[in-house]
Amino acid sequence: MKDAAPQTIYLKDYTPFGYRIESVDLTFRLHPTATRVISKIVFAPNPEATDKRFFLHGEELELISATVNGDPITPRLVEGGLEADVPEGPFIWEAEVEISPQTNTALEGLYMSNGMYSTQCEAEGFRKITYYPDRPDVMAVFTVRVEGDLPVLLSNGNPVERGAGFAVWHDPWPKPSYLFALVAGELINHPDTFTTKSGREVELNIWVRPGDEDKCAFGMEALKKSMKWDEDTYGREYDLDIFNIVAVDDFNMGAMENKGLNIFNSSCVLTSKETSTDANFERIEGIIAHEYFHNWTGNRITCRDWFQLCLKEGLTVYRDQMFSGDMRSHAVKRIEEVMILRARQFREDNGPLAHPVRPESFVEINNFYTATVYEKGAEIIGMLRRLIGDEAYRKGCDLYFDRHDGQAVTIEDWLKAFEDATGRDLAQFKQWYSQAGTPRLKMEESWDDGTLTLTFTQSTPPTPGQSGKKPQVIPIAVGLISPNGDEVVPTTVLEMTEAQQSFTFEGLGARPVASVLRDFSAPVILEREIDNDTRAFLLAHDTDPFQKWEMGRALAKDTLMSMIVKGTKPSFAYLDAIKSVLVDDGLDPAFRALSLGLPAQDDLAQSLFDAGVTPDPQRIFEAREELRHLLSAHLREVLPALYKENETGAFVPDAEGSGKRSLRLAVLSLLSLRDEGVTARALYKRADNMTEQAGALQALLSAGLGTEELQAFEAQWKGDRLVMDKWFTMQVASAVPETAAQVAETLSRHPAFTNKNPNRFRAVFGALSANHAGFHHESGAAYRLLADQLITLDAINPQITARMSGAFETWKRYDADRQDMIRAELERILATPGLSRDTTEMVSRILA
Ligand code: ARG
Ligand code: ZN
Repeated sequence: MKDAAPQTIYLKDYTPFGYRIESVDLTFRLHPTATRVISKIVFAPNPEATDKRFFLHGEELELISATVNGDPITPRLVEGGLEADVPEGPFIWEAEVEISPQTNTALEGLYMSNGMYSTQCEAEGFRKITYYPDRPDVMAVFTVRVEGDLPVLLSNGNPVERGAGFAVWHDPWPKPSYLFALVAGELINHPDTFTTKSGREVELNIWVRPGDEDKCAFGMEALKKSMKWDEDTYGREYDLDIFNIVAVDDFNMGAMENKGLNIFNSSCVLTSKETSTDANFERIEGIIAHEYFHNWTGNRITCRDWFQLCLKEGLTVYRDQMFSGDMRSHAVKRIEEVMILRARQFREDNGPLAHPVRPESFVEINNFYTATVYEKGAEIIGMLRRLIGDEAYRKGCDLYFDRHDGQAVTIEDWLKAFEDATGRDLAQFKQWYSQAGTPRLKMEESWDDGTLTLTFTQSTPPTPGQSGKKPQVIPIAVGLISPNGDEVVPTTVLEMTEAQQSFTFEGLGARPVASVLRDFSAPVILEREIDNDTRAFLLAHDTDPFQKWEMGRALAKDTLMSMIVKGTKPSFAYLDAIKSVLVDDGLDPAFRALSLGLPAQDDLAQSLFDAGVTPDPQRIFEAREELRHLLSAHLREVLPALYKENETGAFVPDAEGSGKRSLRLAVLSLLSLRDEGVTARALYKRADNMTEQAGALQALLSAGLGTEELQAFEAQWKGDRLVMDKWFTMQVASAVPETAAQVAETLSRHPAFTNKNPNRFRAVFGALSANHAGFHHESGAAYRLLADQLITLDAINPQITARMSGAFETWKRYDADRQDMIRAELERILATPGLSRDTTEMVSRILA
């Protein structure tokens, strides 16, 4: 029973489930197409609930039998599950169902990937495993028996028994069903141990397919560092005897924090210097930390309902960001975070998919694992901390953990802990969770005899379903720099709460230059009248690394915008300013590399649109290329020396080495525009690590070279799925606008292409939608190709299809011809018979 009209679920309709669960016992008899799942669940009435309907979720299950207190019953099969009449007091529910992991291509529930069994239950996948109240506020203690003729049989919690063809696991910590996990297969472990601060020895394992066992060491170190960091920074200790991580090739997302059994997309855990880039190492360290940190922020304390998703995700992203900053460089990490926030979350906030960090309704919750929930959710935690201070932040967290351990809670509960810990009223602050859209923060300055007045005006544009917006609490970190370059007022946090508000700085000698929104203290768009000389001044003198980078970025953007709109040539002010950063040995090479980067084409398109200009993707592409060539010419005297100086010795994937390599490769990319690829080809041949091998190839491709190397790369790496994903991506990403769709189409017919593997599909079609000028080429070829692919993919994997349909979310920025073409493709997708709920919701919202 399924597929009636999709229903909208509302936050305001929340009611608790009528029953509590005392215990859950599951037995799995594994079989590729006929796995039996036998469940024994002890229910008791929930005194806090009024609705006593006994409804269990269930999808794609074949019910074999059901009993209540041992008596066979015939439940009523209803939309999305079943109903049964049950006794008033506690009772035992038992059921047996059959499922088919082998044919489960949606990768949700229990499925098979390269011969191994794996699960993904968040958000609502457990209902594809057995009948159950599959909602996060129902927490229970699970015992799981796995039967199968496979060497490794894993589930959550601690191992209690192991015999020929079976294993039993017990998880003493009550958990919601979305944290359930099971893995079975021929796997090899990379073992280690960790001793917690109270002296508990924990067995650690990373489980991988044979052949990958030498790619686990870095991930294991990251895990141990995470465990230590959470003890030192948040006082949080691990709580089981064992912690398992498993790498799976076919996985919809990055990774999943199942209690004691984290499951990772193999691309997010496996590393070696030969196959992983510095960016991979950095990301993997962050994801391992993220999933581990969920043990407290998500697992021990979970969400009451899925509207509260940011409660665990925003907080856990914030925690992993701080961890990465501590492990590497806070300055560099912050710049990277802001780039991602702007590229994904601001983009989302500016379009038809804009939604509050805590949404108020959804059709398919999988569509709300978004940049807004995750990244803007993390920004909110950062603002809270900036407003109350480090000590109060820790006090509030401690109170939250103490008060809510073992519970499923809400954003209200989270904020209440901070109100109680600090005595502050957070009512207005809470609007960050409910109000969608990126606030515009306008600043005006006035100077009067030693007093500088900064006047800020805030406004947030309307978003779908929200027209009138209220003023928010905005922490604005400001510093003042005197004309001689000295900082006269160090970073001060101004707390804005009104629609318009002025702040004064008195007793100043000469009129200083204001450095505003230091460390990107709030996720807003700052609008201020500022000329390029002032930007260059701040780029040279600001003490805040984020603002220093921001000023270079603003110069680049201003340069590109006037090239595009007015056809002007780039000013020497920009070129010289960038040059002086580039050759400044006192600056971190990673920072210099970031400063050399140019704003993305998508970012320029949005800025043009905001300025009232219809973006022309081809023109944006050409201007950016022109600027790359001009930079390469302007910097020609310094590039070779920079390339030499930043050579690293033996590859170590740390902040220092990766910083030097990123600068060196950024330089190489410009050099390759001038030396016919001689330097890049030499590096390609010599490289003993993927960072340099892929970097050299990319430099060649972006100079229109590299055909031979591309072939050599394929020959060398055809046996490695993860490296081959890079090979697919690089070609689509570097294709010129008129060929991008053709390149993607050809690659989709390559024998190694498959739409059953999300990484591979994203490698080609994620890259196509990220190739701005290629995707938006006037022929409309890329629009058609992506729509064709999404229509096919929807029947296989709705989650990935829905997510990738976001490629079209910016369609209203463009000219009428492009809008017509995109609308036609969206309508064609929507008209597909049997289209999934996931994709239907996304495409309808994009079209609305
Ligand atoms: N909780 C996981 C994480 O953030 C993500 C799982 C998302 N799964 C999904 N089906 N949307 O680490
Ligand atoms: Zn998460």
